[in-house]
Amino acid sequence: MIRLPGLIDPHVHVREPGQTHKEDWDTVTQSALAGGVTMILAMPNTKPPIFDASTLDLALGAAKSKARCDYAQFIGAGPDNSDIAASLADKSAGLKMYLDSTFGELRLDDMSLWMPHFANFPKDLPIVLHSESRTMAAGILFAAIYDRPVHIAHISLKEEVLLIKAAKERGIKVTCEVCPHHLFLTQPPPNPPPFSPKMGEGKGGGRLEVRPRLATKEDVEALWQNLDVIDCFATDHAPHTLAEKDSENPPPGFPGIETILPLLLTAVSEGRITINHVLEKMVTNPRRIFNLPEQPETWVDVDENASYEIHAADLHSRCGWTPFEDWKVKGRVTRVVLRGREAFKDGKILVEPGYGQNVRVR
Ligand code: DOR
Ligand code: ZN
Repeated sequence: MIRLPGLIDPHVHVREPGQTHKEDWDTVTQSALAGGVTMILAMPNTKPPIFDASTLDLALGAAKSKARCDYAQFIGAGPDNSDIAASLADKSAGLKMYLDSTFGELRLDDMSLWMPHFANFPKDLPIVLHSESRTMAAGILFAAIYDRPVHIAHISLKEEVLLIKAAKERGIKVTCEVCPHHLFLTQPPPNPPPFSPKMGEGKGGGRLEVRPRLATKEDVEALWQNLDVIDCFATDHAPHTLAEKDSENPPPGFPGIETILPLLLTAVSEGRITINHVLEKMVTNPRRIFNLPEQPETWVDVDENASYEIHAADLHSRCGWTPFEDWKVKGRVTRVVLRGREAFKDGKILVEPGYGQNVRVR
């Protein structure tokens, strides 16, 4: 048995308000606890998006009554809400800007729309960028010009990790995260192991849709080789139902919050990373980057020798599937204590909806 601190996932799509048939604050936080995650930062591309005080209240109201682990909520950057977003910074996890296409309609194309956000949002919190490839380079240029921190979400490409390395070496305030699916899966076709054959079962290949897309083997290798450049492991937990994933118009996104730790522990058992990498990238660094409080009397007990298969039927997300179906992993969360209370034990969630606290309420 090993005892870890509670893990932080700084990139989670909760789907509430608006799309609770996919997930809600209750199911996502159950999934978090069962995965050893005791704090989540929620993304703003809900319905409606979190753009102002009233939509922030909507999300935080649902969270207050339903969340079982601790949390904070991002504000979304819109074309004309930079003053409002900055005024709500204290109550938020940070500002999220969508600069490339993905699920939802929050993309800001014109760079002149980025400027007021970079100028106005307080510098003690990062601006989180969904920015891929050359858009990411533009985002890093903005960080340099405005001399403020940016955090690049879900990097997936060799060129991205290499540019972030170069930017860090020059003192630009950039941090980044990588998701388990970009570390453990490569793009199809071909679709050899380690892909689960079940994952490709969907009619149109919609289960494989995710943004950023799965990358090449060379990209994946570059991420593993540059782990020192990567500040955080984050899931981008993006639940959509199987019916949606197998439809004509499959939305991009994978669930992941309950499988990240078993996957990483398996990599630890194989000697690919160390447990210290996991703690640095899922506790120390996210806490520093997002200015998050410590959670007293909070820990995760893990049976590092437990070998088993991942099955969606055992997971707590409402979406009902996982891209890692049938994967053999080593390392099981057996017990989670959150702020002095047993929150999860032997497969059972033991804290009620509403036990979770907003970490931005002081
Ligand atoms: O695949 C993705 N799904 N990437 C994103 O950036 C958004 C997410 C979602 O909200 O479904
Ligand atoms: Zn996301």
